[in-house]
Amino acid sequence: MKDKILELVAEFIDKQEKKFIPGESIVQYTGPTIDKDEYTAIIGTVLDGWFGLGAQATEFEAKVALRLGKLHAVYVNSGSSANLIALETMKEIYCKEKKTYKIITPAASFPTTVNPIIQLGFEPLFVDVELGTYNMVDEQVLDALKDDDVIGIMYAHPLGIPVANTKKYYELIKQKGGFLVEDCCDALDSTYNNGDLVGKYSDAATLSFYAAHHITTGEGGMVAFSQRSAANIARSYRDWGRACFCSGKDVLSSTGACNKRFADWLGTGVITDHRYVYDRIGYNVKPLELQASMGLAQLKKLDALTQKRKDNYTCLNNFMKRYEKYFILPTTVEGTTASWFSYPITIKDEAPFKRADIVEFLEENKIQTRNFFAGNLLDHPAYKQFDFDLRYPLDNASKITNQTFMIGVWPGLNEEIYQYVFKVFEDFFATRGLK
Ligand SMILES: Cc1ncc(COP(=O)(O)O)c(C=O)c1O
Repeated sequence: MKDKILELVAEFIDKQEKKFIPGESIVQYTGPTIDKDEYTAIIGTVLDGWFGLGAQATEFEAKVALRLGKLHAVYVNSGSSANLIALETMKEIYCKEKKTYKIITPAASFPTTVNPIIQLGFEPLFVDVELGTYNMVDEQVLDALKDDDVIGIMYAHPLGIPVANTKKYYELIKQKGGFLVEDCCDALDSTYNNGDLVGKYSDAATLSFYAAHHITTGEGGMVAFSQRSAANIARSYRDWGRACFCSGKDVLSSTGACNKRFADWLGTGVITDHRYVYDRIGYNVKPLELQASMGLAQLKKLDALTQKRKDNYTCLNNFMKRYEKYFILPTTVEGTTASWFSYPITIKDEAPFKRADIVEFLEENKIQTRNFFAGNLLDHPAYKQFDFDLRYPLDNASKITNQTFMIGVWPGLNEEIYQYVFKVFEDFFATRGLK
């Protein structure tokens, strides 16, 4: 009966209408690239009656870790949780003194790349970014690294564009006895250092599997490490703070992975179950096994999806070059390649129109746009309440708040859709008498 159900599901999904009608269909800025494989994987797992994390999650963790140049990974319920758990883990390993440590981070960011810094009692030391590559301003990072209170660097590879100096920053922060957390949520499969996958040069690397990202499990995230000991700490924070680090089939074992599940763990002379011993003030940020089954189906397609993102960027960028007098176009730094999340455009100061003009025109013509996340976080009410150390000018970050928008390069877009997008851009300039 299960096979019959899955056959019907596959047939139903195959029959969904996918036709693009110019001017009527919405040109999404991003979206999930899924088909019957993901649906049958999810429904098959549901029908098996296994909801909590199990064998598929273990396999998904192992495969994703390798895709981040790491050996161990912990599956969580979002990219935001991945950043939080990554930083909790770093705090436990690296912060031994009772003081306020600082973490270098770009002001132009996604909120939950920076929020754990504040939530966990660190002080963010904000640096600006370059327009076009959206990489951190190198001189500011190098200067900030001279600060004795700096213990870490934490940043996202912006919209898939690799932060080219990551290896250098990693080496410098290690010399200081600190850590680097790479948020790879928008950059799965991007490369730096002439071909290394992003995620490689850091103490912890994170991913998001929300539907907007390179691969999706609906919601979800991953935090990856080189050291098993760090992954065990992260797993504990994920799972209520418990001491037991069993995962996958070990969960079913009567003795546990440590082979002494029942012992005097509390030091009271009473034998107790390690699964109910708590070492940390933890959370519960676990996803579901059915999400992992979806992730495994997505991973099989990742090479093709990455190639499509690159091809779409090239197609769009070749067209946009004609408007370079008005736009700062997105680009990578030498020695890096981007698996693009989206296509950010910054309106130049001297352009005879504002971001709102072009964004409204595109949206009226059914082309979705988005801001480059927060732009400068410090322009937002939540962050104004703090007395942060603002020693560096953050002018470009604020330009991103006010002058940058993004459109799509995700694999659901194709040549036919881009022809429509190009025509709408041409119309925008034509209605203003511009070329
Ligand atoms: C760079 C970056 N970091 C973190 C996140 C948070 O991921 P999630 O939405 O899965 O919590 C996002 C979300 O889009 C992101 O773009």
